[in-house]
Amino acid sequence: MLISCQELQKQYMADHQPVLAADGINLDIAENDFLTILGHSGSGKTTLLSLIGGLTTPDSGKVLIRGVDAWAGTDAEVSRVRNETIGFVFQFASLLPTLTVHENLLLPLSFGGPQAGSSEKADALLQEVGILEKRNSFPAELSGGQQRRVAIARAFMNDPQIVLADEPTGDLDETTEREIMDFFYRRHEQGTTFVIVTHNSKLAHGHKRLRVLNMKNGSLQEQ
Ligand SMILES: Nc1ncnc2c1ncn2[C@@H]1O[C@H](COP(=O)(O)OP(=O)(O)OP(=O)(O)O)[C@@H](O)[C@H]1O
Ligand SMILES: [Mg+2]
Repeated sequence: MLISCQELQKQYMADHQPVLAADGINLDIAENDFLTILGHSGSGKTTLLSLIGGLTTPDSGKVLIRGVDAWAGTDAEVSRVRNETIGFVFQFASLLPTLTVHENLLLPLSFGGPQAGSSEKADALLQEVGILEKRNSFPAELSGGQQRRVAIARAFMNDPQIVLADEPTGDLDETTEREIMDFFYRRHEQGTTFVIVTHNSKLAHGHKRLRVLNMKNGSLQEQ
């Protein structure tokens, strides 16, 4: 199993009231799955992706990546495994404002030193999401949907085995949404695993190998 979540539990305090954002989640994500998780606002989708991606620590339960506890080992090891395995498309703005579009894509790689061909790779990804002509612009000079596409392109820079995408087509028009989903499907054909969380039930249709789960009050249900 690529990723296995076991009895994940996460509680937040909101206005002095406990909220169970993840309520005993069990989820297996196999190699080359294309999983869509549908749920209303506040159902716990972002919390679940953050738990899977290792950005939020569970109160209890485990996340295993290829059978290895994602939280075992030193911080450096944990982040290395995460960076090599996972590409993350965040729900909200996540681009560095002082870097150009092209530089934003190169940033995750720069921690490991410059790599041959990475500049061309960034341009190829920008082309795939239809935003290459903005490569030298700064994020503040882009529309919301354009920034979203840059964030999507960035998630693929490390050749991740799995892409976790939080409402990836949130601020896109229908045509652009279709282009982005087609890009995801192409990558899926090439072996990438996907977990997409969204409230948009349209994203749960139109792909042959689709697996859809519903999220409600921090729990997952098969459709
Ligand atoms: N850092 C936090 N502190 C307190 N409560 C939080 C925090 N993060 C999430 N919550 C609460 O946990 C619940 C689930 O939130 P989450 O962001 O996971 O929902 P979501 O399904 O992603 O919603 P949306 O579709 O609006 O993005 C909500 O009730 C929210 O208020
Ligand atoms: Mg969310």
